[in-house]
Amino acid sequence: MDWYSALVFSVCIAASCSAEDLTFPPGFKFGAATSSYQIEGAWNASDKSESIWDRFVHDLPTRILNQDNGDIACDSYNQLERDIEMVADLGLHYYRFSLSWPRILPSGFPNYISKEGTDYYNRLIDGLLAKGVEPFITLFHWDLPQSLQDLGGWTNPLIADWFADYARVVYTLYGDRVKLWLTLNEPVVACDLSYITGVTAPGIISPDVGTYMCNKNIMLAHAKAWRVYDEEFKPKYHGKVSIANHLLWFEPQTEADSEVAELALQHLAGRYCHPIYSKEGGWPPSIEKVLEKLSLERGYSKSTLPAFTQEEKDLVRGTYDFFAFNHYSGRQIRWAKEGETFSPWPLGDAEDLNGKIEFPDHWPPTASSIFYVYPEGIRKHLRWAKEQYGDLEFVITENGLDTLGGLDDHDRISYFREYLKQILLAIKEDGIKLTHYTAWSLMDLFEWMDGYHSKFGLYQVDFNDPLRTRTPRLSAHWYKKIIEAHSLDVNVTQDVL
Ligand SMILES: *[C@@H]1O[C@H](CO)[C@@H](O)[C@H](O)[C@H]1NC(C)=O
Ligand SMILES: *[C@@H]1O[C@H](CO)[C@@H](O)[C@H](O)[C@H]1NC(C)=O
Repeated sequence: MDWYSALVFSVCIAASCSAEDLTFPPGFKFGAATSSYQIEGAWNASDKSESIWDRFVHDLPTRILNQDNGDIACDSYNQLERDIEMVADLGLHYYRFSLSWPRILPSGFPNYISKEGTDYYNRLIDGLLAKGVEPFITLFHWDLPQSLQDLGGWTNPLIADWFADYARVVYTLYGDRVKLWLTLNEPVVACDLSYITGVTAPGIISPDVGTYMCNKNIMLAHAKAWRVYDEEFKPKYHGKVSIANHLLWFEPQTEADSEVAELALQHLAGRYCHPIYSKEGGWPPSIEKVLEKLSLERGYSKSTLPAFTQEEKDLVRGTYDFFAFNHYSGRQIRWAKEGETFSPWPLGDAEDLNGKIEFPDHWPPTASSIFYVYPEGIRKHLRWAKEQYGDLEFVITENGLDTLGGLDDHDRISYFREYLKQILLAIKEDGIKLTHYTAWSLMDLFEWMDGYHSKFGLYQVDFNDPLRTRTPRLSAHWYKKIIEAHSLDVNVTQDVL
């Protein structure tokens, strides 16, 4: 034994090898994710109606980098067999995908159910189950029926019932075979990003008012859809339903900035988590206070964050079976100095909180301008969520790195490895009950305003090829090995490519 091995050996005895223990707990599950608009294409196939994303990209193509759109995307509507094959090849325990509401209910309402639309998802679900892969379904991943947008979309309070009706149709169709559900993906994007900046559909800018109407209605919609399952389907199907929020870690620049960092966490995560997961329900009190003061200063008659009645608080509170979240990155935040200008929330600064965002030099940038690599952030966020909301079951529904392409994606492998190491520490050192990890994404796809420029896929997709050929990247080979070994202690080399 050389001196180095001897040292490692003795450290291992002293610390029960915890630093070196790269195995995942028994029963821990791995998956990968996609979403309907980003992969399916077939935007006008059979009786499918227009979604707000179809309208958004067609109305003004320059909204999207290179004027790309999701008309064909990965053509998954026609390449379903290949998608199932990839998922099976990786050895995934589950595949997270979303349903297109306007494909299933072309009017947006349950008065007419599309046979072709529902058949597509039946074939996908049955194909996955035949390969031993569990389907994990998201009901809404941003592609709202345009017909409902024309009636106000998420700003119309009636949408909570419309969404519950859609959920009931879907649970009725697929609940016998699907046991894992998410109502909504990242409502903070559908509300904050959309209504503050207009860079995502529906492209309506109403930062002070629309954002918070959407926020409240989307919370009620989630709650009603959760309760439909809980009351009408859970007794016979025994599945679980939650919501996938986007959690972005805010690190205070100095000790003196910890208050603004906590406010930012409450503003981005808390406004979508507190109504559901907290003991008392309703908005995070600190944000309620900030927004009321700001609204009055801006000349509104009352807070533009609509209040919950006690009945609404009780309706939303406790509507979860686990705590799901997507996580990619972190931000460093500090109090703004007098006279500083702000870029818009939620990608930029936290103007409403008087917070400025910066990125430390030691956080590597990624292909997109909005994400920086800060693996410790995921562990910190898990600890924060456990402190805020209790010792819940945590499920990571998205995590991944975007690059500019290439099959030899060492950078993606090291991103996954570093984040998974932090996840292991959270489980083993902090006692976090984390049960599922989902890589974003199964394959390159339409990445919203970035079009096809930024690539998140374990599989590369050739968007110039009419067949949209998929090829495994090095990271796909690596992820497969991780799942097989149930451990992070695996290596891959380029010769597998
Ligand atoms: C569907 O949209 C494509 C463009 O993406 C167009 O070429 C085609 O004619 C449309 N099909 C129908 C049936 O409207
Ligand atoms: C992977 O590579 C590292 C560094 O080269 C090495 O320490 C480790 O033992 C290897 N693991 C396996 C499972 O081969």
